[in-house]
This record gives sequence, C-alpha cells and structure tokens, in this order.
Amino acid sequence: MSTPASGIPVLVLKEGSTRSRGREAQHTNIMAARIIAEMVKSSLGPKGMDKMLVDSFGDVTITSDGRTILDEMDVQHPAAKMMVEVAKTQDNEAGDGTTTVVVLAGELLAKAEELIGKNIHPTIIIDGYKKAMEKALEILEKIAIPVDLNSTEYLKKTAMTSMASKLVAEHKEYLADLAVKAVLQVAEKADGKYKVDVDDVKVEKKPGESLRDTILVNGIVLDKEVVHPGMPKRVENARIALLDTPLEIEKTEFDAKINIESPEQMEAFLKQEEVMLRDMVEKLASVGANVVLCQKGIDDMAQHFLARKGILAVRRVKKSDMEKLAKATGGRIITNLEDMTSADLGYANVVEERKIGDDKMTFVEGCRNPRSVTILIRGATERVVDEAERSLHDAICVVRDIVEEPKILAGGGAPELEVARVLKKYAETLPGREQLAVKNFAEALEAIPATLAENAGLDPIDVLSELRARHEKNETWAGIEVISGKVQDMREAEVFEPLSVKKQVIKSATEAASMILKIDDVIAAAKMKPPSVPKEKGEEGAGE
Ligand SMILES: Nc1ncnc2c1ncn2[C@@H]1O[C@H](COP(=O)(O)OP(=O)(O)OP(=O)(O)O)[C@@H](O)[C@H]1O
Ligand SMILES: [Mg+2]
Repeated sequence: MSTPASGIPVLVLKEGSTRSRGREAQHTNIMAARIIAEMVKSSLGPKGMDKMLVDSFGDVTITSDGRTILDEMDVQHPAAKMMVEVAKTQDNEAGDGTTTVVVLAGELLAKAEELIGKNIHPTIIIDGYKKAMEKALEILEKIAIPVDLNSTEYLKKTAMTSMASKLVAEHKEYLADLAVKAVLQVAEKADGKYKVDVDDVKVEKKPGESLRDTILVNGIVLDKEVVHPGMPKRVENARIALLDTPLEIEKTEFDAKINIESPEQMEAFLKQEEVMLRDMVEKLASVGANVVLCQKGIDDMAQHFLARKGILAVRRVKKSDMEKLAKATGGRIITNLEDMTSADLGYANVVEERKIGDDKMTFVEGCRNPRSVTILIRGATERVVDEAERSLHDAICVVRDIVEEPKILAGGGAPELEVARVLKKYAETLPGREQLAVKNFAEALEAIPATLAENAGLDPIDVLSELRARHEKNETWAGIEVISGKVQDMREAEVFEPLSVKKQVIKSATEAASMILKIDDVIAAAKMKPPSVPKEKGEEGAGE
C-alpha cells in the first residue's frame, strides 16, 4: 500500500486480480464455509452416513472421519480451506471431534449472518462470540465428571463412544480394550501427571482374517521379512544392530575403467569385494550382534555371510520405524560400521519372523524400553483395515486426552444443550447487541443434538424441545441416545467424551468463525496458468 500526496491510501493490485468487499465478500466466505459444514454434517454421530471418496488415481476411501473427508476433498475456496484447517487443528490437538467442530463453525457462521442481516456489525458479533466461548468453557469445566485413573472403566467407555460412529462399531469393545492397554503402557508419569505420546503406539495393518484378530504386541512389528532363507527365524536374547548404512559395496560415483588381463586378476577383483563384505559381517559379529535391522540394502553375498554366522537380518526398514526401534531397544542407529561398539546394540527378548496372512512380518518383542507397543490391525479388506486404523487413532487419542486431563462429559448433545441453556440466561445480563450474539451462539450449539437426531431419522424439532424442557428441570445430562431414539440421561446410556475434546471443539470453532467474519475484503491474484497448456490466440492476460 502506498500513500500519495493527497493522503488517500491507494491499493495497487496486480493485473488480473479480482476484489470483492464488504457484505459481498462476507457473504461469499460464509457461504463457502457453510457448504463444507453441510457436507460433513450427515456423517455426525453413530447413525451418521459414511462417505466414499475417489481420488484422481481412482483409489477409494470409505470413511466417516471428518478430517479424512475434508483432507481427501480438493477444496478451492479460501474460506472453505479454513474449515479444512480447523478440522486438522482439532485432529492434532484432541484427535476426535473433527466433524463436530466443522458443523459447529458452520452453524456459528449461519447464526452470524442472521445478525449481519439485522445490521449488527461483525466486530460486535465476534466480541459476543468470544464472551460466549469463555463462558461455555467455564460451564463445561463445572459440569465435567472427574475420572479415577485407577480404574479403566471410563477410559474404555469413552474409547467405545469414539468408535461408535465408525465402520468398526461392531467390534468397538474389543478394540477399545486394546487402545486403553496400549495407551496405559506408553504413559509416562511426571510430577503426578501423565504424559502420553501417541506416536509411541505404532499401528501396523495387514488385510486378512477379521477385526477380532487385531492384536496388541509388546514391542515393534515391522512389515518386512527376514532376508535370507538360511537365517534363523527366531532369535532369543536379541542383541540388535540398527544400521543406517548399506551392507553393500557402494558403487563409485564416477566411471572407472579397469583393465583386466588375466583370469587371476578377475578373481582377485571379485575376491576383494567379497573380503570387504565379509569384513562388514565380521565386524557385526565381533561386537556381538545376533540381529541386524538395516535401513538400507543388504548384498546377496553379505546375506550369505550373515546367515552362516546365524544372524537374523532385515533390510529396507522404514526410517520412522528405525527411530522407534532405537527408542524401544535402547540401541543407537549406526551410520559408520567401523565405529560401532557393543554399547551401540539394542536389546529385545525375542526377534521373530511370523507369517501374517500371506505375508511375513518381523516382531521385536520384550524390548528394553517397555514403552513401545504396536497394534497390528487385521480385517477383511484393505478398506476395512484403513478405516480401522483411523478409528483406532481416534480411540487412542481420546484415551490419551483423559489420561492427561482426567475429566469426561456424557455425550449425545447433553453438554451442548446444558451450555446453551446457561448461555441464554447469561445473555440476558448483557447489553442489547452482544446479547443477541451470545443467544445466537447458544442456538448454534443446539445444532449438534439436532444434527445427531436428524441423522438418526428423528424429528430434530421434537427432540430439541424435549431436551430443552428436561434441561430446564435441571437434568444436566439429558441427551438424545440415537440407537434407541430416546431422550435420556446419557450417563446411563454410557456415552462419554473427554472434556478436552469438547473444549477444543468450542475454541476452534469460535476461532474459525471469527476469523472468517473478520474478513471484509478479498483480493485474489489471477490464477496461474499451468505452463504445459499452450496459450490460445487472443487469450486474456499476459502469462508473465
Ligand atoms: N449412542 C449415542 N447416542 C447419541 N449420541 C452419540 C452416541 N454415541 C456417540 N454420540 C455422539 O456422537 C458425536 C460424535 O460423532 P462422530 O464421532 O461422528 O463425530 P466427531 O467425533 O465430531 O468427528 P470424528 O470422529 O469424525 O473426528 C458426539 O457428539 C457423541 O456424543
Ligand atoms: Mg468421533
């Protein structure tokens, strides 16, 4: 922006830019964001529908996970992209509630538009929404139910709720149990509080068998087989070398010409390579390794020598797995074999290759660090194991959320309605215009139980009025149980959610809605033309 002598600021736009301002800009942004919310709305709750997403390669994903739906969609509008971002934030911060956050943000925008129509300035709406958000967080804290971590009962029930809305719901009890066990195993206690890194729970998947055959392994599972048939398939008291260097003779980077004049010379040349590989294997054996896990390749000849020494070896292990292995076994990743000592070796009780379905996988069990577990997902088809992985992610995250902040809420729209009820009372204490904003915030929250009901084929208006009446009678946990279709105490229905998920939903949705409301000027540069498309004669706008 530059200011000429007259003092009026002038905005210099690039040729081909488009600009929309004021009401019009606001309206298009709100519309774009609401369309995204409308799209995911039908997948909210246990009775929600799944989406089938087909990417440009024809790969199919079937899911009801809010974040995954939005991730797979090619969203163009900048305001719509902000909704995709909010689902991502929710997923990273809390791991669940990604559909709810988008639906709520859309609803907050719809209610804001209503107020804009009544000539209330967006700034006032944003202020009102902020007040309402703070109050809502306070109310949630107040009604939250504390959880005793000595029992896993509520951890399991919450994990089950998070999976109730997924394809894997039929096996939610079994899978919830695995998620709870896995998280408790990797939880670290410090200053009386627990800390959980969900990355410590490795999730591997292999199509075949059924979801009930999913197992929790105390250690790390690698989707790799032992490289040579002559090697042992099982090593106890494994002393593990973790290599980030190939057991191969590296090719020179430049071309060299060697003149060989006799068969003896040829033999000596090949022998030299063999000697180098043998030395590498000798080195590994001399430090006491009986298992080699290598991130790079292993030459056939080296495999042969390793097999002769009775060493079990696996090659081309993923980098992310190498890091997990280092943490789990207490070994150090070696980049230069010559410097290796026995202190660099990791330890595990057993390393074993097992046949899983049609493939072979390598299990590293009983590691030095007990805080490393793998959930190995089995299921009828690739799509099932993929969706199971996403659902387990949600379950693992909600268990972590409670372990880190041991408070829960009952679900089914009960907390949203309770917050709405108190907010409406609170609104009356505020001056005129802000009052309207807080009231509309409360109404936006009611969209969650309304959507749950609608997705279950119930009449949202009937359900809402019954819910409002019950909350007026101080039934804090009255919600809509969508399986039975009845309004009831959601604690009895055993539908529980972590407090932190709901708090994050309210914070992120308010933030996203405010951010979109604040925009009153959209300046878009002209789209870049893909360079491969030949320009047509007389086409508008210069390419450069
Ligand atoms: N049996 C039930 N009856 C009523 N509501 C339920 C029941 N089980 C779960 N819910 C509610 O469903 C909602 C969660 O639905 P869902 O898991 O589809 O969406 P999300 O958690 O917002 O997003 P995502 O799981 O895709 O990240 C919560 O409000 C929860 O209270
Ligand atoms: Mg969920």
